[in-house]
Amino acid sequence: MNRFYEKTSTSPVNIAVIKYWGKRDTTLILPTNSSLSVTLSQEHLQSKTTIRASPDFKKTRLWLNGIEEIDIDNNKRLQNCLRETRNLRKEYENKLSKEGVKTVIPLSEFNVHICSENNFPTAAGLASSASGFACLTYTLAQLYELPVSTTELSKIARQGSGSACRSLFGGFVAWELGSQNDGSDSQAIQIAPKDHWPELEALICIVSDAKKGISSTEGMQNTVATSPLLQHRIEKVVPERMKSITEAILNRDFQKFAEITMRDSNQFHAVCLDTYPPIFYLNDVSRAIIRVITEYNSSNEFKKLKAAYTFDAGPNAVIYTLRENIPEIINIIAKYFPGNVENDKDYFSDPDQLFAGNRFG
Ligand code: ADP
Ligand code: DP6
Ligand code: CO
Repeated sequence: MNRFYEKTSTSPVNIAVIKYWGKRDTTLILPTNSSLSVTLSQEHLQSKTTIRASPDFKKTRLWLNGIEEIDIDNNKRLQNCLRETRNLRKEYENKLSKEGVKTVIPLSEFNVHICSENNFPTAAGLASSASGFACLTYTLAQLYELPVSTTELSKIARQGSGSACRSLFGGFVAWELGSQNDGSDSQAIQIAPKDHWPELEALICIVSDAKKGISSTEGMQNTVATSPLLQHRIEKVVPERMKSITEAILNRDFQKFAEITMRDSNQFHAVCLDTYPPIFYLNDVSRAIIRVITEYNSSNEFKKLKAAYTFDAGPNAVIYTLRENIPEIINIIAKYFPGNVENDKDYFSDPDQLFAGNRFG
């Protein structure tokens, strides 16, 4: 048995406030619009990936949540991340050899075994593909000791799952759609670090942990092919919203942040409905949460927005709010969805329950 080389790392989930939905290039994963997200704390939601390389491994294998993926040779996205990081490793090995370094380990030639776990529902609209592919790319980069920037890594993670490019940074992150056909400028950039707005919190309400009926990848392709509303969104709505929400974040303007967040979630789900045949990611509980938050926002004397809901491609809600409102919101959710919130815990993972998590990071 030869030596093996191993690295483990974890990555956070990010939840978009300006949603990515649509690709102009499905191979390179280039989006039809820019998007912007908030990175959640790893305290509650994370992917954890261990990658081992060894000359003894007969093939590259992947286990996700303890179950081996059988068809990884046909998993294009996984192959993209492996190929891109391996090529960079090869370049690095050549460079070291040229410099006269004697002990260069030819990791780029070894097969790898990848073992990844999400500590939250996979493929249920809580961005598991984002934390999962960010973690895969980051762990490969660590294993291969790649001398590359996080921005460069974001372009590789993007080729695993688009939203993954935003999970390599903390805080507030934009994914710029870019203008090049080769994807060289379609990358993530940090708008502000996590400690820029420490009062902002995210509450996660698990409505269902079931795997979605239609994956994000398939859903957005159907939208691109059939929705006229998507064209309007891409051209007339998103560019302006990207500017406004960036400003709102930089000014810590919760009113503006909340309104744009809710409007963009609404429009994303409208675009899903405009897809033919339509895609339904929200369910009755999701819609009830929208009503509760709308009522909560209009019930105070000054009609100030105190919370903003957003839903990805699934029924689960993420509620952004300022820390001072958390106890009130948890009480309201407990009132409308009795038996689902445990007040003595800020998070619990019983999958059939509606629960509250907190604190983005
Ligand atoms: P989600 O809303 O959870 O992001 P998607 O439909 O976008 O759902 O993607 C789910 C897919 O992402 C999974 O079926 C799996 O192929 C991939 N995925 C999720 N977690 C991981 C992980 N930790 N490592 C590698 N791939 C992952
Ligand atoms: C609704 O990144 O999961 O969560 O690139 O095909 O893997 P692929 O899709 P994915 O799509 C995410 C869609 C979204 C919005 C967002 O995260 O911006
Ligand atoms: Co996803």
